[in-house]
Amino acid sequence: MKRIPIILDGDPGHDDAIAWVLAKGSPMLDIRGVTSVCGNQTIEKTTYNAQRICTLIDLHVPTAMGRLRPLISDPIIAPTVHGESGLDGPALPEPDFELEDMDAVSLMAKLIQESDEPITLVPTGPLTNVAALLMAYPELKEKIARISLMGGGVQYGNWTPAAEFNILVDPEAAAVVFESGIPIIMAGLTEKAMIFPEDFERIRALGNRVAVIVADWLEFFYQFHRSLGYEGAPVHDAVAVAALLRPEIMESQDLYVQVETAGDFCKGATVADFNGALGKAPNAKVLMGIDRQAFVDLLVEAIATYGEGKA
Ligand code: RIB
Ligand code: CA
Repeated sequence: MKRIPIILDGDPGHDDAIAWVLAKGSPMLDIRGVTSVCGNQTIEKTTYNAQRICTLIDLHVPTAMGRLRPLISDPIIAPTVHGESGLDGPALPEPDFELEDMDAVSLMAKLIQESDEPITLVPTGPLTNVAALLMAYPELKEKIARISLMGGGVQYGNWTPAAEFNILVDPEAAAVVFESGIPIIMAGLTEKAMIFPEDFERIRALGNRVAVIVADWLEFFYQFHRSLGYEGAPVHDAVAVAALLRPEIMESQDLYVQVETAGDFCKGATVADFNGALGKAPNAKVLMGIDRQAFVDLLVEAIATYGEGKA
């Protein structure tokens, strides 16, 4: 099986953490590096969380801290969703490895330059680091196979009526990425990647250390969403990984997507040209739906691998 080389970039974050558990638990993915970005919490907290998650799942690859703040916009954090630590809930191991002595953009560039094949970027937080990489190293675009990102929503937002959190935190960065010409899989808000409480228990019943912690993360993550009337936990970030593993369980539309970087009500909106009004070629494969049960089964299958003494 030809493995896909990837770099994980995220703002853990409960759903980032679960996305990384899925990625590490899949034999199809060759994780070359991990970078943190500020989003759900400050860069210090998301970086510490990234190290703890990687320690938990025995993911020991080059890991680096991202930029201190969005390219231009002021930071927005989400303690109501992910807690003060950014990853509240179960106790996690302290990091058992050091960060690289370079920043995230430098590490991304190094890994891409050194790779003998194009690398897929999997950002599941604001696109700050990815945009900074593309601006600093435009010559590396040809060595980026695609970007499978969690972000945006072509029908509605979640942080504002128009904008999804990751895009809203750094809309200027998102505009750079969507205008880059690099193939994009946009795993935006579909509200269909729902993990229900009965799924939490199915995962917990796997019984290994990672499974129990993932179930606890889901319980915590569900609390906020239940207060909004959700029937389950929308694990958005894991869809950006699942789209690489099982594209056949996704419903998608190739669309030309623009990012609104100004405005009082629509800043951070991902505006899709459904009717071809602009006559522009599509720049993103926009995920419009997912086979929920197949998604849960994929997650369970990956988490079960940690029972083989992997972590
Ligand atoms: O809007 C959902 C996204 O914002 C997810 O990536 C979540 O982790 C937060 O970053
Ligand atoms: Ca995230």
